[in-house]
Amino acid sequence: MPAPIVVASNRGPIAFVRGADGKPAAKRGAGGLVTALSGALAAGGGLWIASAMTEEDREVAARGRVGADGDDASLYELRYLSFEPGLFDRYYNGWTNRVLWFLHHYLWNLPQTPIFGADTEADWDAFVAVNRAFADAMAEEGGRLGPSTAFLVQDYHLSLAPAMLKELRPDARIAHFSHIPFAGPSYMRILPERYRTALLEGLLGADVIGFHAPAWADRFLLSCRLLDGARVDLRRRVVGWRGRKIRVRVNPMGLDVDALRDEASRPEVVRAAEELRAWKGDSALLLRVDRAELSKNILRGFLAFDRFLETHPEWRGRVVFLALLNPSREEIPDYGAYVGECVRTAEFVNDQWGTSTWTPIDARVRDEYAQTLAAYSLYDALIVNPMLDGMNLVAKEGPMLNTRDGALILSETAGAFQELRRWALPVDPFDVDQTAEAIAAALDMPAAERAARRRGLQAAVRRNPPNRWLESQLDDLGLGD
Ligand code: ADP
Ligand code: F6P
Repeated sequence: MPAPIVVASNRGPIAFVRGADGKPAAKRGAGGLVTALSGALAAGGGLWIASAMTEEDREVAARGRVGADGDDASLYELRYLSFEPGLFDRYYNGWTNRVLWFLHHYLWNLPQTPIFGADTEADWDAFVAVNRAFADAMAEEGGRLGPSTAFLVQDYHLSLAPAMLKELRPDARIAHFSHIPFAGPSYMRILPERYRTALLEGLLGADVIGFHAPAWADRFLLSCRLLDGARVDLRRRVVGWRGRKIRVRVNPMGLDVDALRDEASRPEVVRAAEELRAWKGDSALLLRVDRAELSKNILRGFLAFDRFLETHPEWRGRVVFLALLNPSREEIPDYGAYVGECVRTAEFVNDQWGTSTWTPIDARVRDEYAQTLAAYSLYDALIVNPMLDGMNLVAKEGPMLNTRDGALILSETAGAFQELRRWALPVDPFDVDQTAEAIAAALDMPAAERAARRRGLQAAVRRNPPNRWLESQLDDLGLGD
């Protein structure tokens, strides 16, 4: 009998929006966690607990458990937890995405931010309350499903839930997995001691703690040394804590390639590809696909393209840079300001080099998943140049759908770098001159080399399918087949 699986994450696989008939209609959730976990759970089933993030989600939550497609027929089930909107805002926009996201991605501008005070404390209280609600729900579901249940807790939003669940159910087998980087001890010290300690203690309630890349695992271990009483074995990646041994694992995750290809064959994607083909004409296509997000380094990507057009005049008029930027966390002012700066920079580049018949950069800030899948098939070069990133599914999806042997430009600091480095063109995300040269190398690459790299990238992506990620989590918990 396979172990029952309970996954907990802030964002669920579908969000509900108001349909034309006035009723909640299911829509795909955004971001890499959803893509990756949907693939993993579709293979074996389970229960997924997530936050209700919209008013329509809250309506659906009131109905209890639903099937993963929003109906009752699918392989795994969803349970949405509803929170009062003010509390959810403090937890999601306040603590998780203004404090923890900035902490783990090194995004603070230290002379000015962060400023911790009464507001931070109120955000923290909301964070504690939401984590407690998740722990309670997991404990309840565990009671229904039995003692061999595997609890798979996802990401920084739920850093406290593992210890809370362990307290409620000391025998629970719990894995926590971060789909983002983890801050090292110097940056962790910026957090007031009480928060830092609670976060590390919260995570150490799990039996296994996972990351996508070795660097994030090592930084977590080094940060655990800040905790009084923790014994950290860096070589074996084990933390001794309150009589338990917690294992730290590196477990990169790939894609459900068949599901992605099915999705990409839908009529609206085929239509979007026709439109994009007509739009780009004979020009080469440089593509980027991101949540409109500070860590993705969109601004330096545009500056690198500016530099490329300056140093490679032979490409002027012959290449277009399409940036598909899916709006994200729009309640947070830093995001709006950053996206505004990116768009202004694109306009500056267009003013500088554009002509009456050629616009160098087309930055589209909107939610267009079909267009994204269509653009993957058409690029000649894909740029994924985050400052720091956990997973970078875009760097894996592109090569699986591309039909032109397009090259991949990839940051050395991306979570997927170790897996894909041999076949990608590496860049230092802060070095715009080097990135400009990587763009030139990608566009000028001989056909045979492009094809060889494409084959290498596809093989690397297939090496880590999501069900394998899931199986290693279960093995690590002693619950594998
Ligand atoms: P992150 O998790 O930080 O958003 P990733 O690159 O790991 O970054 O994953 C982004 C995921 O979001 C990819 O699977 C991508 O296909 C998906 N995606 C891109 N645009 C949209 C969209 N408009 N709606 C939903 N998902 C999208
Ligand atoms: O992949 C990292 C992550 O923060 C996920 O936890 C999250 O679902 C995704 O990015 C998208 O962010 P959000 O859920 O805040 O839109």
